[in-house]
Amino acid sequence: MKRRLSGELSAAAAALFLVFTLVFGIAARAATEFMVAAANPHAVKAGYDVLSTGGTAADAAVAVQMVLNLVEPQSSGIGGGAFILYWDAKARTLHTVDGRETAPAAATPERFLTAEGKKEGYWQAAVGGQSVGVPGTLKALDILHRLFGQRRWKELFAPAIILASEGFEVSPRLAESVARAKYLDRFDATRAYFFPGGQPLAAGTRLTNAAFARTLREIAEGGAEVFYNGPIAEDIVAAVNATSAKANNITRADIASYRAKLRPPVCLDYRAYEVCGMGPPTSGGLTVGQVLGMLSHFDLAKMGWSAELAHVLGEAEKLAYADRAMYIADSDYVAVPAKGLLDTAYLAKRAALIDTGKAGAKAPAGVPPGAPAVKLAASRYMGHLGTSHFVIRDAAGNAVSMTTTIESGFGSRVLVRGFLLNNELTDFDREPTRDGRLVANRVEGGKRPRSSMSPTIVFADDVPYLLVGSPGGSRIPGYVVKTLIAVLDLGMDPQAAIDLGHVAHRNTADFDIEIDSGAQAFGPVLAAKGHQVKARRLTSGLHAIRIDAAGRMSGGADGRREGTVMGR
Ligand code: GLY
Repeated sequence: MKRRLSGELSAAAAALFLVFTLVFGIAARAATEFMVAAANPHAVKAGYDVLSTGGTAADAAVAVQMVLNLVEPQSSGIGGGAFILYWDAKARTLHTVDGRETAPAAATPERFLTAEGKKEGYWQAAVGGQSVGVPGTLKALDILHRLFGQRRWKELFAPAIILASEGFEVSPRLAESVARAKYLDRFDATRAYFFPGGQPLAAGTRLTNAAFARTLREIAEGGAEVFYNGPIAEDIVAAVNATSAKANNITRADIASYRAKLRPPVCLDYRAYEVCGMGPPTSGGLTVGQVLGMLSHFDLAKMGWSAELAHVLGEAEKLAYADRAMYIADSDYVAVPAKGLLDTAYLAKRAALIDTGKAGAKAPAGVPPGAPAVKLAASRYMGHLGTSHFVIRDAAGNAVSMTTTIESGFGSRVLVRGFLLNNELTDFDREPTRDGRLVANRVEGGKRPRSSMSPTIVFADDVPYLLVGSPGGSRIPGYVVKTLIAVLDLGMDPQAAIDLGHVAHRNTADFDIEIDSGAQAFGPVLAAKGHQVKARRLTSGLHAIRIDAAGRMSGGADGRREGTVMGR
């Protein structure tokens, strides 16, 4: 009989409870005490257990992330990076934690150029150790837990350790992701785990991960530092070098010196609310804020969910994405005019460029107050899809909105000690200059690549009203804005807002409309206004919790993935 950490359930008992809760309704979209919504029922259950035994939202975030790493390994984990918004109810303070990966100290701007000086292809850059940044997720959670945790660090790893040791059923989405992933069979350890007997993992297969269970036990016992200093870090460096097409990869010193950072939140008044997000190195908070700042000049409630609203939204997104491409990168390395990008007068001028009758051409960047004097070239990088988002509100009113990633699905494809390493360095622009001008988001030693992740908390009367965020690569700000306006302007509940078909413009040639959704009905009107409409699968993974003035919670989970909501 194996010894269990306190509070552990066996995997069989957990599975039974999961079925019970899903059938008998503890998995609830309404609650008054606490709530958690995430991309996989096992992870949601782990968070629910922590919250129902008095843990804080910070405690629950650790448990949820560790289980997600195991059951949704394609999207996030300790081999990746994350941004966390945390509302401390007692101190009435919002904190934002930057756990973004860093480039190796020795990395140069030319890292992803060929010998001929051309930009490497995405997959050439992404697959293997050369794309791996120093992981930050564990350090970000460590800060959160030290500041706001009440339960012992060690206990929070128990659900993931049990599931990894005793096994969990491979979900349909994981099976589909394995079957569709490119280059997932390139490296031995990764192939052995995801292609047992040479075949891609099938849905329903009972999967164990003994190596990951061991890794988690070490971190549970020894703390986050065990990951950053010692044999785990040594194994990461060895795996990176063994699979890298380049020199100057991450080193033991890079890993040992990694720091997660507390940064100031980025906030903007929108209607009767204050919308807060994460600042650089993610573009999320600023881009969401810019779009909302422009939309505040239009009566969206009067328009209702319509082609007219979709047009205005798409035009505002084009203008915001133009600024994003020009100005936003790691603010520790480049001067980002963050205040200017959200300046009320500047956004009023940008909003005035929107013609409600017709689509504008591709938008150029504006010149916000504080824009750098040196002219930059716009980034061309768009972003991929290996990310997850979860939201948690505990019984004391503390709240977490956390977006977490290993960049593309399955990251760099490098599996070490049972977890995947990110390919976050491909979130940099692979071309450092264009037309003789520097690109702000170029690779530099120690720098954090620009992200699109947009964890958001909306405040009403100075307390959290809505927690929301999503995966989705460079479409993330668009998914988040759609959900925000559906709740804040159109009065929808979070589930209805998430379910609404997506419309998303990134200032490329296409106006993306979600295939097989109600939004496709907008196509003819948008085309008549001059948009090039493209119907696509738009796989967001939105999770949201709304809290009314009486403390009643209403949650939403994205049916485009496998998430759920539980609360009490
Ligand atoms: N790698 C996805 C993002 O950071 O936006």
